[in-house]
Amino acid sequence: MRCLNCSSIFNSKREDALYCSDRCRVAYHRKIRNKTVTDNSGKNIPNHMKTILSLCDYSGSWSKPYKEQGYNVVRIDLKRGQDVRLLEFPGEVYGVLAAPPCDHFASAGARWWKDKGNSALLEGLSVFDACARIVLFTNPKFWVFENPVGRLKDYIGQPQWIFDPCDYGDPYTKKTCLWGNFNSPPPREKVGPIRAPSGHHSMDQWLRNQGFSLGKSRAALRSVTPEGFSRAFFNANR
Ligand SMILES: C[S@@+](CC[C@H](N)C(=O)[O-])C[C@H]1O[C@@H](n2cnc3c(N)ncnc32)[C@H](O)[C@@H]1O
Repeated sequence: MRCLNCSSIFNSKREDALYCSDRCRVAYHRKIRNKTVTDNSGKNIPNHMKTILSLCDYSGSWSKPYKEQGYNVVRIDLKRGQDVRLLEFPGEVYGVLAAPPCDHFASAGARWWKDKGNSALLEGLSVFDACARIVLFTNPKFWVFENPVGRLKDYIGQPQWIFDPCDYGDPYTKKTCLWGNFNSPPPREKVGPIRAPSGHHSMDQWLRNQGFSLGKSRAALRSVTPEGFSRAFFNANR
């Protein structure tokens, strides 16, 4: 990982470490206080000084274009051993991408909502709320939450943008909503979804065509942010 202050490469047991030393942490925050790092447009900030917090990001797919362009990408996911609810204040943040779990929100699981009861819903909302807390107190230049069509809108209102992965070149449908403060990514390289046997999702068929066997890993595979969308989002928000 790269130190936010001195840009040197360093190793840390913590995946979300931002500074190579306490000295750098203090120096960085002193610079921010003296307003030598940021300007209002963000244009004059070198990419490695722009921190992108990618929350609930296991695959790294959404944040990959930022990483490739040298941004300081910090990925947080329970499967990486980090609970976003315990994330400490990260300091200056340029952008937040958040893909909190949809298990208790997505319409696809609506038939189980009643049996699961409020405790499952509270669990889902607590992860969402933690991401929202980080956005509120870091006040990034752009921020965005992603979730499939479902009941999240009952708690945070209507989304600003809805897309299918095939709008950005990945040939399957999975209606996905975005909320936040960001530039909507215009569709590009739009394709039609591939044909699937009746009663099957085009995404499942697409995954099979890629050589994945579904079964237990189906949910995890389906939750990976589509690459075409990730590139389009990056182009609209950099
Ligand atoms: C809907 S998936 C999003 C996956 C993402 N689009 C990707 O490409 O990896 C939700 C993710 O949230 C993570 N997650 C669940 N609870 C979490 C928590 N308390 N803190 C951090 N991550 C959490 C899961 O491990 C999962 O990777």
